[in-house]
Amino acid sequence: MDISESVEALLSSKALVIEHLYDRLFESRPDLRQHFENRDMRIQASMLTVALASVEAYYSQRFPATGHYLKVLGNRHFHEGVRTEDYAAFREALIGTLQEFFAETWDQPLANQWHEALDLAIETMMEGYEI
Ligand code: HEM
Repeated sequence: MDISESVEALLSSKALVIEHLYDRLFESRPDLRQHFENRDMRIQASMLTVALASVEAYYSQRFPATGHYLKVLGNRHFHEGVRTEDYAAFREALIGTLQEFFAETWDQPLANQWHEALDLAIETMMEGYEI
């Protein structure tokens, strides 16, 4: 399985797989919970799932529109007060959630693709911190 097939599986899943990310994140970083007070985490997870399709599209095809979207997303996070140093924990929680979901289909090449895609997405979101 490659990264684009894994995104297809996420988008096809009836279960909101990505919702588990937040439990993982708050377990490792309870201090980040404060950002999500009064938020509906199912809505949050739905938006993140769709955003991951853009993360993958930017990584695999470098569509300019997806790069622009990621910058806008970064700018919104800047205004939410999300600090640049908090992205690493988010990335690890996300990778852990994907690994759990894909179980035996998960392998090192797929893990590497997701690491690269998320690093690129975060780098592009950071550009949105400067506009
Ligand atoms: C790869 C990194 C990340 C991606 C792709 C991502 C994606 C998203 C998306 C798609 C949204 C919805 C945007 C909208 O309202 O239009 C969102 C909102 C949000 N994200 Fe992130 N995020 C990332 C990292 C983080 C981190 C590190 C934090 C901090 C702990 C964070 C906290 C939030 C908060 C507080 C909101 C607003 C929630 C709301 O309005 O209900 N995100 N994120």
